[in-house]
Amino acid sequence: MSLYAIGDLHLHFSSPLKAEAQLYDPLWKNHEERFKRNCENLLMENDTLVLVGDHSWGKNLEECEADFEYIRQLPGRKILTRGNHDMFWDAKKTKRLNERFKPELNFLQDGYEVYGDYALIATKGYTFEGPYYLNYKGEVVGYDAEKEEHAKKLVEREAQRLIKSFEKAKADGYKKFIMFLHYPPTNIMETDSVFTEIAETYDAKEVIYAHCHGYKRFHDSIEGEYKGRNYRLVSGDFLSWVPDKILD
Ligand SMILES: [Fe+2]
Ligand SMILES: [Fe+2]
Repeated sequence: MSLYAIGDLHLHFSSPLKAEAQLYDPLWKNHEERFKRNCENLLMENDTLVLVGDHSWGKNLEECEADFEYIRQLPGRKILTRGNHDMFWDAKKTKRLNERFKPELNFLQDGYEVYGDYALIATKGYTFEGPYYLNYKGEVVGYDAEKEEHAKKLVEREAQRLIKSFEKAKADGYKKFIMFLHYPPTNIMETDSVFTEIAETYDAKEVIYAHCHGYKRFHDSIEGEYKGRNYRLVSGDFLSWVPDKILD
């Protein structure tokens, strides 16, 4: 039994493709077939696969139906977390999604899923990436205060969701945690954030995130050991569409 994670499938079997590069970029070429094949070679039926957001380009459930069918056919238990492009998923209506798609698809938001003696906790997160104004040396000389104010509200909302989920799992007796965010835990300028602090407070063993695409963005945030926990980027193009094994 193993726990795997990967993010950003960005499927579009029945919706308009919103990123043309997906067709031609060598990182993305035929990624649906490559990913399916890798899952079939790697995963057993008693394994768990966490899909860390940005599942589909579909705007609503109808446009996602074929994408969900593709995910349903992958081996193992499937847990989906929210990404910034998942327009079909209103966080407040997660219960409805689960009523419709469980047990094949498990939509995780405001709560936890269990893997062995671990509680799996997930939220979308948020990173404010600017717009910073940089000088010719690349130093920050200003920022958009209005956008920063808006971003602070989003970060606070996501942090509260995360804390509530950790508290719920703790109240149910869980002591070991894996934390999933869709956005990276920090922006490119910082080494700490409310999300790294929450991971430390609850002693999450692993912090898994996705969202960063392409060689220019793969190293935007923390990777590897940092302050006693392990940080991993699992966006599909970064992993060459091979799910990353998190736990045995
Ligand atoms: Fe993405
Ligand atoms: Fe994303």
